[in-house]
Amino acid sequence: MAGSFLKALIISALIISLHAVADAGPTKTAGSRQQSCSSCHGDFSSLLPAKHPRVAGKDLKACTSCHASDTGNKAKPKPYSAKLHLSHMQPGNELDCLVCHTWRPGKSFGVRGAKKPVGVLSRENMDEMKKVFASWTASKYLDAHHGKKNVTCSGCHEKLPEPGDSVENDRCLGCHGDMEKLAGKTEPGDFPDRNPHKSHLGTINCTVCHKAHAASKTYCLECHKNFQMKIPFGETSTGAKAGGQTSGDVSRKTTEKK
Ligand code: HEC
Ligand code: HEC
Ligand code: HEC
Ligand code: HEC
Ligand code: HEC
Ligand code: HEC
Ligand code: HEC
Repeated sequence: MAGSFLKALIISALIISLHAVADAGPTKTAGSRQQSCSSCHGDFSSLLPAKHPRVAGKDLKACTSCHASDTGNKAKPKPYSAKLHLSHMQPGNELDCLVCHTWRPGKSFGVRGAKKPVGVLSRENMDEMKKVFASWTASKYLDAHHGKKNVTCSGCHEKLPEPGDSVENDRCLGCHGDMEKLAGKTEPGDFPDRNPHKSHLGTINCTVCHKAHAASKTYCLECHKNFQMKIPFGETSTGAKAGGQTSGDVSRKTTEKK
């Protein structure tokens, strides 16, 4: 009984995915495998938080009927977008972007069912985008730490990111409080003037030290080899910190090397 029901389910899922390929039109790319939600999920409700409203439907429309696409790139966490990407972008288990997105290479990239595109995405940039997504999902870096806190690409990037893009200080400070507040948090007790956020360098880019998609590095140490300053999600972070699984909390102590 259960077996034949399952078979029927798989067959209908196959038919749906074949339709999806046929419908893909200009977004169809070589090797892209279109899959529908129902090929993996019978019901979304059980996947959502207990307090979440009941969901009816078997495709992305089941979500977009209430979650109108939020393509305004405000500096804020986006739990809906973060959860959908995190659970389907696990390395080795990536769902094709085009199950949920529309894409006309070099012209537009959007969310299925949404009127306004997210932006323009070329074929070359799509490859880069996928690499960064894998990093944001599961790396040891700052990007994945933000991912776990529901900060998606658009939390940091003001537009659909491209190779060469970076992020302005104001964007980071929009969530982390002003510079003075930040410097207050990182003032070492023993050597108060060895503060990464308040030094003779004045205002410099956050990204001189904090890399999002690579290991962070304390720039001060290039000149002050004797300072002990640890940066969250840096190369030299040890133990649990390097895994990025914890809150990234680091010791506030900056003691002198003997
Ligand atoms: C190839 C299989 C596959 C397809 C297709 C698929 N999913 Fe998933 N989905 C998964 C897996 C695996 C998880 C993680 C399950 C877990 O953590 O228990 C997941 C998790 C989820 C979650 C829970 C998210 C969270 O962490 O809170 C939701 C909601 C969801 N999927 C919705 C969808 C929607 C909507 C679609 C279609 C647009 C879809 N899925 C298509 C495999 C799939
Ligand atoms: C009937 C309306 C409705 C539908 C349909 C719906 N949602 Fe929601 N969802 C809400 C409301 C209301 C909230 C709470 C307010 C908010 O965060 O937007 C919410 C919140 C969420 C959150 C955030 C929960 C948290 O931890 O803060 C996630 C994730 C989410 N929805 C995912 C989905 C997914 C995925 C689908 C489609 C499978 C979906 N929702 C369909 C109404 C809906
Ligand atoms: C399971 C469905 C799903 C998959 C798979 C998926 N996305 Fe999304 N994506 C969404 C939804 C839904 C939104 C709109 C979120 C919103 O309105 O807040 C979105 C939004 C985005 C955004 C807008 C910015 C942001 O931070 O929210 C980008 C960029 C994006 N997706 C890129 C990708 C790329 C690249 C892939 C493949 C590597 C991918 N997505 C795979 C569902 C998905
Ligand atoms: C915590 C903030 C933050 C988040 C979240 C974030 N980025 Fe970035 N991104 C940056 C910063 C900062 C840079 C500049 C390079 C660096 O320092 O790592 C950057 C650079 C990039 C670049 C250019 C890389 C290069 O080498 O030219 C791309 C592409 C990019 N990000 C895509 C994404 C995508 C896609 C997402 C979501 C999956 C994302 N970013 C999420 C902060 C972020
Ligand atoms: C949309 C809001 C948002 C933006 C924008 C943002 N962050 Fe974050 N950031 C968070 C949240 C939420 C956390 C996790 C909570 C925490 O640790 O404060 C976090 C954590 C961090 C941490 C780890 C803190 C620790 O305790 O170890 C660092 C470092 C950091 N962010 C730096 C940056 C930098 C640099 C940028 C800009 C490139 C940036 N953030 C942009 C929200 C944001
Ligand atoms: C000169 C290198 C450097 C620069 C530039 C820098 N940081 Fe940091 N940042 C560090 C180091 C080192 C730490 C760890 C210090 C500590 O934990 O005491 C840190 C810690 C942090 C933390 C975690 C603070 C906490 O509560 O534990 C945040 C958030 C942060 N930086 C954000 C920023 C932002 C935003 C900017 C740009 C406006 C910036 N940083 C510029 C080196 C730097
Ligand atoms: C390009 C090289 C360079 C960088 C990068 C640099 N400094 Fe300096 N710093 C100097 C020089 C040169 C002096 C003056 C000579 C001295 O006393 O060592 C100095 C002096 C100092 C002093 C007073 C003397 C001491 O050794 O206690 C402090 C404190 C200091 N720097 C902190 C920092 C901090 C914090 C950073 C990172 C935010 C930083 N510096 C980055 C070159 C640099």
